[in-house]
Amino acid sequence: MKFAVLSDIHANGDALAAVERELAARRPDRVYHLGDLVGYNAEPERCVRWAMDHAAGGVSGNHDAVACGRSSGRHFHPSALTAALWAGEHLTPESRSYLAALPAQLAGEGGILLVHGSPTDPDRYICSAEQASLELSTLFASVAEGPILFGHTHVAGGFVRRKDGRVEHIPPGEFRLRRGEKALINPGSVGQPRDRNRDASFLLYDTDDRSAEWVRVPYDVEAARDKVLAAGLPVVFADRLRDGT
Ligand SMILES: [Fe+2]
Repeated sequence: MKFAVLSDIHANGDALAAVERELAARRPDRVYHLGDLVGYNAEPERCVRWAMDHAAGGVSGNHDAVACGRSSGRHFHPSALTAALWAGEHLTPESRSYLAALPAQLAGEGGILLVHGSPTDPDRYICSAEQASLELSTLFASVAEGPILFGHTHVAGGFVRRKDGRVEHIPPGEFRLRRGEKALINPGSVGQPRDRNRDASFLLYDTDDRSAEWVRVPYDVEAARDKVLAAGLPVVFADRLRDGT
C-alpha cells in the first residue's frame, strides 16, 4: 500500500492545491496529515475541509489546538497566536469540531505511527540526531513497527537508528527502511517550508518495500502571499513563504 503524508499545511490553499494536483498524478491509496492544518496563512477553512473530505486520518497540531479552543496558546509567539486565533474565527463549527477531535497520535498501515512533534510530546521539536535518539528509545517507538512520521519543524528529512545503534540524519530524497532499523521521518511542510526551499513538500511511503520518497511541488507563492496580506495577518508570514524560512 502506498500512502501520502502531508504536514503543516497551515491554511495555505495555494500550496495545497498544487499538492492535490501532484497527488492526482501519483495516486496514493490513502492520504494522512500530521496536523497544523491552520495558522499563519489565510485559508484555514479550505484546508480543514480538505482534510475532512480527503484524509484517511490525521493528528492534532499545536495551531489546530489553539484555533479550536482546546489550547490557550500561551507559549505561542504573539504573531503566531494572532494567526491561530484568526483561523478559529474563520472556521465553521463543523471544522472546529473536526480539529477538536483530532488525536495526538494515530497508528496506520504498515506499523506506522503519526505524530505532530514527537512521540512523547506533540509540541517538541526534533531537530538533531541526539533528540531523535532519545525519541527512538521510547515505548512509543518500540511499539511502532514501521517509521514514525512527524512534522512540526517544517524541515523535510529524518533520522534513522541503524542496527548497530548509530543514529544518522536522513536527507530528503529517497530512503528505504531496512529490517531492524527504526526511523523518524518528516515530510516537510506543505504550507510554510523552512528549509530554504519554498516549494510545498510532502512524503510518499510504500508499506510493501518500506520506501519513502519526498516530493517538492512549486506553487503560486505570490497568490498565497497576497491572501495573507489582504486578510491583515502579520506580514512576516507572507515573507516567509517567499523565502522558505
Ligand atoms: Fe507547524
